[in-house]
Amino acid sequence: MQIQRQSVSSFDANNTDSCAVIGVFSDRTFTPLGNTLNIRSNHSIEKLIQKNNLPSGLGAGLFIPVLPDLNCSILLINCGDAKSPDSRNYLKILNKTANHLTDIKTKIVYFELTQLSVKNKDNHWKVFQAAAILGSKFYRFDQLKSETALSSPIENLVIQAESSEDQAIKEANALIHGLKLVKDLANLPANICNPSYLADQAKKLSENFTTVKTEILEESDMAKLGMNSLLSVSNGSRQPAKFICFNYQGGDKSRKPIVFVGKGITFDTGGISIKASAAMDEMKYDMCGGATVFGIMQVAAELKLPVNLIGLVPAVENMPGGNATRPGDIVKSLSGKTIEILNTDAEGRLILCDALTYAEKFSPEIVIDMATLTGGALMTFGNIANAIMGNDQKLMDDLLAISDDCGERSWTLPLWDEYQDMLKSNFADLPNIHGDNNAKTIISGCFLSRFTQNYRWAHLDIAGTAWISGKDKGATGRPLMLMLQYLLSRV
Ligand code: BES
Ligand code: MN
Ligand code: ZN
Repeated sequence: MQIQRQSVSSFDANNTDSCAVIGVFSDRTFTPLGNTLNIRSNHSIEKLIQKNNLPSGLGAGLFIPVLPDLNCSILLINCGDAKSPDSRNYLKILNKTANHLTDIKTKIVYFELTQLSVKNKDNHWKVFQAAAILGSKFYRFDQLKSETALSSPIENLVIQAESSEDQAIKEANALIHGLKLVKDLANLPANICNPSYLADQAKKLSENFTTVKTEILEESDMAKLGMNSLLSVSNGSRQPAKFICFNYQGGDKSRKPIVFVGKGITFDTGGISIKASAAMDEMKYDMCGGATVFGIMQVAAELKLPVNLIGLVPAVENMPGGNATRPGDIVKSLSGKTIEILNTDAEGRLILCDALTYAEKFSPEIVIDMATLTGGALMTFGNIANAIMGNDQKLMDDLLAISDDCGERSWTLPLWDEYQDMLKSNFADLPNIHGDNNAKTIISGCFLSRFTQNYRWAHLDIAGTAWISGKDKGATGRPLMLMLQYLLSRV
């Protein structure tokens, strides 16, 4: 699908096989194109909603097939009584409109709700959000089905915007491409998307975008470095672990990089501390943090962002097996700290701690890790918010503010000393879990914090947000939007 922009002066829906999305307010007045079409149709739209009630609730839609004197069909969207909605309501209108559009058979969509004046938001934000939300709604994962239905017949999405917003459309397009990459990698099953597959896709990314350099560390390289904590997770699997390092230098050479680290467990059985079988298939999504790192690198390259980035993806499969790590085993991590592995299902932190130590080598300005780390994040926040922890209040505040701005909710959890004190081992420097199994999300953050003392760091537990279960099971692509907005806020 192509996203196009059209200025208000020429904005009109006068093509057959097109659909105009127009807004109607509680006082039954229309957005500008709505007015034009209403008059052109001899007030038929007005009469129609006088006869029928308005679709009820903000964002509710009424589809009107082609009327006499009009070439186009109409999707009437209830914009409520607020002529200037707040940003949450604007995003709600966009999401609901996108849902309606997935059911509509038309080639061209004209979208003018960017003309709503949204409280505290400029045109750039309105146009970016409209293009990003409408443009990413039509994603389907059907590459493994023998018969694929067209996800949508819509060929052109024409958004009302002036030429000053070309950049917003460009950013939205890059995000849409990045989201597709993240979701495709995440949705692929673990028999295809294993650590070697991820490493191959990383090399492919740097072929497609030559400004992204890729280096892969093999198990022998990791052993030489001393990444024994990471390797202990890989022991039970026939699939060799791969450590993927991306490097993108878009900024001044003298500037320190931002390092993104993503958990890349391509399948998490739990290892010897094996998981219950219900919904275990969803543990193919345990590499969503890693997939987001791929997305960040691609979007930065596509937009030629003037920033220096490193992306680290430890890619490992967590399996039981004759060589698997046993509960009670003690390993020496890359940092030199020894870890007593009391539960092999707390494996994410075991690969991340070595990646976080490795990050030091790049003298980072900031390190952000993203990981489907604990079921507790899902239990606490559902599918709504990322859990943010870290050692730098300013960084966490920035991420929270950007979350709020872009509609990708996050909330912070504390790493207080009282929690830190719970990580004690009789036999090693620290255990990988706390025995009583409470406060698991925070404890996992405390564990990571022991390896991030030399730089500013934030950790996002995305276990609740990276995918959804149930009949619409699938990857969401989160938190790519948030990370793109964070990078844009810095350039
Ligand atoms: N990948 C899981 C976390 C997870 C579970 C995410 C379910 C989403 C849904 C992680 O490796 C894990 O198993 N975590 C354990 C940690 C525990 C053993 C301390 C958990 O959350 O139960
Ligand atoms: Mn696990
Ligand atoms: Zn896991």
